[in-house]
Amino acid sequence: MALYALGDMHLAFSVDKPMDKFGRVWRKHEQKIEKNCGRMIQERDIFVITGDHSWGKNRAEASRDLDFIAALPGKKILLRGNHDMFWDAKKTAALNREYEPRLHFLQNNYYTYRDYALVGTKGYTFEGPFYVNAGGQIIGWNSEDEEHAQKLVQREAERLRTSFEAAKAAGFRKYIMFLHYPPTSVLENESIFTEMAEEYGAEHVVYSHCHGEKRFADSIRGMHHGIHYHLVSGDYLNFKPEKILD
Ligand SMILES: [Fe+2]
Ligand SMILES: [Fe+2]
Repeated sequence: MALYALGDMHLAFSVDKPMDKFGRVWRKHEQKIEKNCGRMIQERDIFVITGDHSWGKNRAEASRDLDFIAALPGKKILLRGNHDMFWDAKKTAALNREYEPRLHFLQNNYYTYRDYALVGTKGYTFEGPFYVNAGGQIIGWNSEDEEHAQKLVQREAERLRTSFEAAKAAGFRKYIMFLHYPPTSVLENESIFTEMAEEYGAEHVVYSHCHGEKRFADSIRGMHHGIHYHLVSGDYLNFKPEKILD
């Protein structure tokens, strides 16, 4: 039994959204996902998929993409991404009822892997717009957008705490924390999300959302304050799931 993660499949089986224009790595990326998952993941494994599943704007348009994910091996646990328009956070219970046992949607709840609780939410980070000088250094930003971002960060932090608290109330003391957005923005070394990971003693923090060489170093990767941070964006991993735990 093992725990795997991969994010940002950006599937579009029902809508016209070719991904090839974002670089060679996206060429036939669905086939890479199918092949890599088939080779690596066993039915008894847990596979957390960290958001941006589908370009579909609603449930009908996302249906084939979700069927594709459901056909991958392992127990699939899905996190919301910023592009997942098919998933209204407040209607997660209905999604879980509809897709049980093929897919599991993580929002204000938790799942388990051995004696670990798998907790998470979409998260949020401020992504500008920034004002940059000739040397590429950030010298200012749009404060209105920053204020709005802070509200979203607060809401997501509350949702994450709900997930942690649900697991804690059930007796769990070991946690793996999942986010769609990176835990810190390019301006931060710490955030409410890294602080919460430390507060509850999460052993791993897993996130995606960052696309393309220029963005891969936007947040924390590797060990930080005793916690292992993993970036699992599909294009970063060439669509090969990362094993988080054996
Ligand atoms: Fe994405
Ligand atoms: Fe995203």
